[in-house]
Amino acid sequence: MDRSDICGMAVACELAKGVLDFIESFVVSGVSTGELDDLCSDFIKSNGAVSATLGYNGFPKSICTSVNNVVCHGIPGPYRLKSGDIVNIDVTVVVDGWHGDTSRMFVIGGCTKLAEKLVDVAKRALAVGIDAVRPYGYIGDIGAAIQRFVDRYGFSVVRDYCGHGIGRNFHQEPTIVHYDTHEKGSQIIPGMFFTIEPMVNAGGYKTKVLNDGWTVVTVDKSLSAQFEHTIAVNENSVEILTL
Ligand code: MF3
Ligand code: CO
Ligand code: CO
Repeated sequence: MDRSDICGMAVACELAKGVLDFIESFVVSGVSTGELDDLCSDFIKSNGAVSATLGYNGFPKSICTSVNNVVCHGIPGPYRLKSGDIVNIDVTVVVDGWHGDTSRMFVIGGCTKLAEKLVDVAKRALAVGIDAVRPYGYIGDIGAAIQRFVDRYGFSVVRDYCGHGIGRNFHQEPTIVHYDTHEKGSQIIPGMFFTIEPMVNAGGYKTKVLNDGWTVVTVDKSLSAQFEHTIAVNENSVEILTL
């Protein structure tokens, strides 16, 4: 990896994180997910960047907003957030050709104990996954650690969507599976950039895609939560670029 590669990635990832920081105060009861998209879109443009999701395989918006039982890829629209909702906002920006990808959960007003627990476990599941990354270790260690952790709470890890290599492309090798495949997987090599983004369901792990072709929901209608970071693997360390 070129030193300039890590600089390019750091800049893109810092902006992606900056979008989430920027939008936080607007994520309140009564706001529509479409309004949140407009705000993020303007913020991204005013920073001289572009959204990677806008037009990606035809995705129509600049961010993903996934509410309650929506696992990921929710399309911003007229839906107004209300007290008790949990929503994931997922932002991917491109700066000078480099991609930064991160998401986090926001809780609207007071939510149920279950929702609170789920969001907490999803956040810690990401931390556990990142902790399992070792230069010259194996990709399989990541999902094994995440699933062992999530199982303790009786929640489940989504299998249909994975973390991914990232850099000049939005999605590239390696694929980061978030559950235990009981396989070592490929080796983690310094110079790699990839995301870890475990989706944790309160019920079963199964998902389906709605008729809009994008919105992924839990089959059993249970709540789902997700946090995502983009990381860089160095010779002797692991850096969270979207922190
Ligand atoms: N940001 C998502 C990810 O973490 C991908 C969104 S693709 C979209 O990989 F088209 F749905 F926006
Ligand atoms: Co991602
Ligand atoms: Co993302």
